[in-house]
Amino acid sequence: MTPIQECIINKNYKTKPIWIMRQAGRYLPEFREIRSQNPDFIKLCLNENLSSEITLQPIKRFKFDAAIIFSDILMLPYAMGQEVKFEKGLGPQLGELNLDKLTNINQNEFNKKLNPIYKSISNISKDPILKNKDLIGFVGAPWTILVYMINKMSPKKKISENFFNDKLLISKLLVIIEKFLKIHIENQIKAGATIIQIFDSWAGLLKDNVYEYIYGPTLNLVNHVKKLGIPVICFPRGISDYKKFCDVVSPDMINIDYDVDPNKIIKEIKIPIQGGLDPKILLTDKETLKKETEKYLNIFKDHPYVFNLGHGILPETKIEMVSELINIVRNYK
Ligand code: CP3
Repeated sequence: MTPIQECIINKNYKTKPIWIMRQAGRYLPEFREIRSQNPDFIKLCLNENLSSEITLQPIKRFKFDAAIIFSDILMLPYAMGQEVKFEKGLGPQLGELNLDKLTNINQNEFNKKLNPIYKSISNISKDPILKNKDLIGFVGAPWTILVYMINKMSPKKKISENFFNDKLLISKLLVIIEKFLKIHIENQIKAGATIIQIFDSWAGLLKDNVYEYIYGPTLNLVNHVKKLGIPVICFPRGISDYKKFCDVVSPDMINIDYDVDPNKIIKEIKIPIQGGLDPKILLTDKETLKKETEKYLNIFKDHPYVFNLGHGILPETKIEMVSELINIVRNYK
């Protein structure tokens, strides 16, 4: 069993495995090198050889306990036929949303569009470098995918005025998104993913209808993964009540964000916990990093815990600080 499976399945709290959200990304010079020659981000995700190489870059450099497949949560709307573009400085830009077209998506075509991702997973899963390590497949949660599909850009930039008003559009769209997320999850598992993580980056945006738009649809995905026989991790970033989320959705492990008080959550949540450290701490100095990292390690000493961050690693992070973080976690006693 891998160290992360030990933690999730056997509730082993003695080893603290480590991987980092967005570990295959822009803070790595070897990623930036490939990216500079591949201006089309979607095409890069669909380049089977390059996506395999990028997935393994952080494993080669840092020997993390898991690889996460190089792809994006927005490959889903792309494969559902909505245009998705990544423009420098603007973040993702999505095209027109056509509900009629979405209700008539051809499943074979959907599978075909994402096939390079599955081939890449299959290649990577056979690589000896992943011996005793997990290969994490992922999806965006239905709510977060819906936010991008309706808002057509990151809510960080702006959120369309009547976003929450069109309840009929929201509920119709959630059903379609959930259907294709299930297919995408199943395809990744069949190709060789050993854990699935569900990213709900915009869970914190919603104040009402949390059961209908977040808990319900996420629970359906969690049950789907469980039926397929591998562990599932949820990351409902910014959700107001992590305990309630865990009680209702019951993932195998929960990733906390950096606003969650670890001292409070340890008393409330019984399931294995992942993450928490503010990615901005990696932009400070080694002393602060040690203090803040050991804070999490101390609090979760007797709890099954996978070290990770409270959100994705920032592009401006220095390699040296990532190495230092790994040293701190691995040498902690
Ligand atoms: O290393 C890994 O974690 C695997 C690959 C991965 C990417 N995106 C690659 C990527 C994963 C797991 C994601 C998840 C993702 N994508 C999320 C959920 C996690 C989170 O950060 O909240 C979200 C919301 C997205 C959507 C997305 N993709 C945005 C908003 C952006 C632009 C902003 C940004 O961070 O650049 C992306 C682009 C993206 N996805 C990049 C990478 C490496 C950068 C692309 C580039 O080189 O310009």
